[in-house]
Amino acid sequence: MNRPSLEGLRLNVPADVQHQRLVDWVAEVAALTEAAAVHWCDGSAEEYDRLCAQLLAAGTMMKLNPELRPNSYLARSDAADVARVEDRTFICSANQEDAGPTNNWMAPAEMRALLQTGETALFRGAMKGRTMYVVPFSMGPLGSHIAHIGVELTDSAYVAVSMRTMTRMGKGALDVLGADGHFVPCVHTVGAPLADGQKDVPWPCSTTKYIVHYPETSEIWSYGSGYGGNALLGKKCFALRIASNMGRDAVKNDGKGWLAEHMLILGVTSPAGKQYHVAAAFPSACGKTNFSMLVPPAGYEGWKVTTIGDDIAWIKPHDDGRLYAINPEAGYFGVAPGTNVHTNPNCMDSVRTDTVFTNVGLTDDGDVWWEGMTEVPPPHLIDWQGKDWTPAIAKETGAKAAHPNSRFTVAASYNPALDSEWDNPAGVPIDAFLFGGRRSTTVPLVTQARNWNEGVYMAATMGSETTAAITGQIGVVRRDPFAMIAFCGYNMADYFQHWLDLGGKLAGEGAKLPGIFCVNWFRKGADGQFVWPGYGDNMRVLEWIVNRVEGQAAGEDHLFGVSPRYDDLRWDGLDFTREQYTSVASLDKADWQKELALHGELFKTLAHHLPAELPAIKAQIEARLEKA
Ligand code: OXD
Ligand code: MN
Repeated sequence: MNRPSLEGLRLNVPADVQHQRLVDWVAEVAALTEAAAVHWCDGSAEEYDRLCAQLLAAGTMMKLNPELRPNSYLARSDAADVARVEDRTFICSANQEDAGPTNNWMAPAEMRALLQTGETALFRGAMKGRTMYVVPFSMGPLGSHIAHIGVELTDSAYVAVSMRTMTRMGKGALDVLGADGHFVPCVHTVGAPLADGQKDVPWPCSTTKYIVHYPETSEIWSYGSGYGGNALLGKKCFALRIASNMGRDAVKNDGKGWLAEHMLILGVTSPAGKQYHVAAAFPSACGKTNFSMLVPPAGYEGWKVTTIGDDIAWIKPHDDGRLYAINPEAGYFGVAPGTNVHTNPNCMDSVRTDTVFTNVGLTDDGDVWWEGMTEVPPPHLIDWQGKDWTPAIAKETGAKAAHPNSRFTVAASYNPALDSEWDNPAGVPIDAFLFGGRRSTTVPLVTQARNWNEGVYMAATMGSETTAAITGQIGVVRRDPFAMIAFCGYNMADYFQHWLDLGGKLAGEGAKLPGIFCVNWFRKGADGQFVWPGYGDNMRVLEWIVNRVEGQAAGEDHLFGVSPRYDDLRWDGLDFTREQYTSVASLDKADWQKELALHGELFKTLAHHLPAELPAIKAQIEARLEKA
């Protein structure tokens, strides 16, 4: 096999790599970025340990007390590199209308000139002085017909170790690729080349950031950030933005295509032993990880919830007419603050060992702490920026011990609630889709859509108050259709059409479609406090949902669907009054008039290609509201 050599740079291609196109591309990117060395990741434990040792030496990570948090690390990012950068994220389709009005767009040739081909292109020499890691990975179980392979070239060892936790990374993925398999090329640099002899900083990154997708060629180019969804390119970039394009394009081959969704997947088993599967879309930092690991409350003995995935679902129709979902990821990159033994005991168990924490507080005995982990904070710790922190300092300055978007990265196999089928290449059949935003008013606790199209309307018009998972203002309501506003890699109106078409085709073949529900755990009372207890008590809503799927739960028809009345839910083990229920379940006419006006604004923004079904459903809701 031809092994290109680049003016002394050795590509170090492992002897068993037979994929000429892959080798050529690695050579091309190494030449462009002027990487100082190339390392092909095999995904072994030895390699992980070696890279972690390197990150310790570089000061990027520190080792936590092995007695308290065995085999675990704390990383602190640059203070300005702490979240996804949506304003720097681009969908560079050939035609702007294919990216649609909700995505940033630049013509591919213009973007390529800026990043790759121009004389001063950002990737030119971007890896000088750094090792380029070749990270082969599978999104989904190795060899599954639903899975796809990607290869990330990155100059960040932190990214390489995180990719080992978050994906099936290394030799297994290369073996699936063989000599000619298809892969999604992902190129990532922190954008901080090192001159000869220049000392590195613990968290290299750049103030210039570009997170770029070329959907026609399924390529990802990411520049300037080392953090989360900006840098772990299997996650948001591939598994959502590129995969949503792949799923829609697949319609050309099989007439139906598939779905790449920002959804957790859980199994719920009733005391009678029947298991259901639910896929639920919530915006970032709205509790997907908590919901996917839910522990049923007192009064729900005999019920069990198991995790298939906590963030992303790839969903395909099978020959039996049902939709099957896999979790393309292999680990959790979850938000730490607010997680504790009451809100998510399974998660606290998952991160007891073998975890990389990023931007949380460091206690004086070498363990981690974040806001909400314990009721009483430690008397002193080192905060996420490396500064002294005490409860008194926090009170005086508002300083947080952990950044609100601080994270844990841990393999799914550490989750005690992991579903035995989570790694099944065939996926699990979906019984219900849930859509939920963070809304302090307006949207009731739970509503079932009367049919598929009304469910698509519900999901399409979803709104949510923004969180710290993205840079920008926090707490303002933005429309977040399907929780995909930041992740749909093509025109959102076409995406609605894809959902409508898929449901229409399956129903036309006589399939029983999953029920569609919208939920809201976040209604607030006059005192500004959440009224619904949430967490484990969401099981009460889940029970109603699976009983609705079975046609065995009552509810009340209203404006836009069917919701349970107080007596339609089970309250064993919880003191929750009728009045409290009213304040999380009521529909206010004036609020809904405002809400529908906002749906109208969204539809105006998405007018080009907007499926006619959606404004028609809006008109029906308006007519009902008028009479209410
Ligand atoms: C995530 C996100 O990291 O949605 O999952 O931001
Ligand atoms: Mn997410």
